[in-house]
Amino acid sequence: MDPAVGLVFHAHDGTDAASRAALDALLFEIFKLDLGPLDAMDGRDPSYRSFSYFDAGGRCVANASLCALPLVVQGRPVDALGVQSVAVRPELRGRGLFRDLMQRALVWCDVRTPLVLLTTLIPDLYEHFGFRVVPEHRIVGPAPAPEPGMQPARPLVLGADIALVKRLLDSRTPASDLVGLRHFGAMFLQNMAAAPDLRLDHLPGRDAIVASDTRIPGTFRLLDVVAREIPSLATILGALGQIPDRVEICFPTDKLGYVGEAQPAGKRTKLMARGDFVDGSEPFMLPETAAF
Ligand SMILES: CC(C)(COP(=O)(O)OP(=O)(O)OC[C@H]1O[C@@H](n2cnc3c(N)ncnc32)[C@H](O)[C@@H]1OP(=O)(O)O)[C@@H](O)C(=O)NCCC(=O)NCCS
Repeated sequence: MDPAVGLVFHAHDGTDAASRAALDALLFEIFKLDLGPLDAMDGRDPSYRSFSYFDAGGRCVANASLCALPLVVQGRPVDALGVQSVAVRPELRGRGLFRDLMQRALVWCDVRTPLVLLTTLIPDLYEHFGFRVVPEHRIVGPAPAPEPGMQPARPLVLGADIALVKRLLDSRTPASDLVGLRHFGAMFLQNMAAAPDLRLDHLPGRDAIVASDTRIPGTFRLLDVVAREIPSLATILGALGQIPDRVEICFPTDKLGYVGEAQPAGKRTKLMARGDFVDGSEPFMLPETAAF
């Protein structure tokens, strides 16, 4: 049976406000995803493209979206695409709508990029489509001595400091040349807005934004660094006034002047790739601020 009987297929982007509002309603219903904070920061991703089915009442009932993922992979720029916002309304599941939309999205990808990524709790869903799980690792170890004499960091407030945050997101260099983002502002803003317990600081001396988690006593978790030039880990610790016993770095440390041990990332969501990606010779992890 045609899975789409009684439904209308529509591919749309951010310029189609009505379709986007209908999709927002689906994402809120299925994932309780609130995009209000992102809108308040005028932070929507302009590259976002959606493949959706709508019912006769104009409700978005099934969706798969793509976003641009401008990466550097082992030193080379790669314009990958990311699959996200995959959802089908419960009453319409099991009739092939997800399969249909994934096929349409991948046809779009195949003529545009050699690499498609996604993150999921259900890898089985995507293996049919040629995706494979890619192991991720964080880097852990004893903390280096903080660099003395650093100008102290200033805690940022995402809303009030949005101009500064956007300026650096727009001009950032990848935090790692092994796997890093060349830019990808929307997800950074959305992920940080959804995690108010994480720290966001500006290092004025280095014009760098540091996203970190200092909730575990004695451990400094470095989530991301957004800057034109990546400061060393010792510089970051010095500016933040942190003297931890242990560090956990959630992206490769090639630019941080730090060598630690690789440890499985232990995330519930798995990263999957379709196409040429890392060769597996060196541990890496996509920063949590880039979770999509
Ligand atoms: C997952 C989801 C998108 C599937 O949508 P659907 O329209 O029911 O899926 P389809 O009918 O197109 O099924 C396509 C294939 O996926 C398989 N599949 C569907 N749901 C699955 C699940 N939860 N686990 C494993 N396989 C699943 C089907 O068995 C089918 O396999 P086949 O091609 O071998 O027959 C839908 O259940 C949903 O919206 N779930 C909640 C949101 C969610 O989990 N999204 C994915 C986030 S990464």
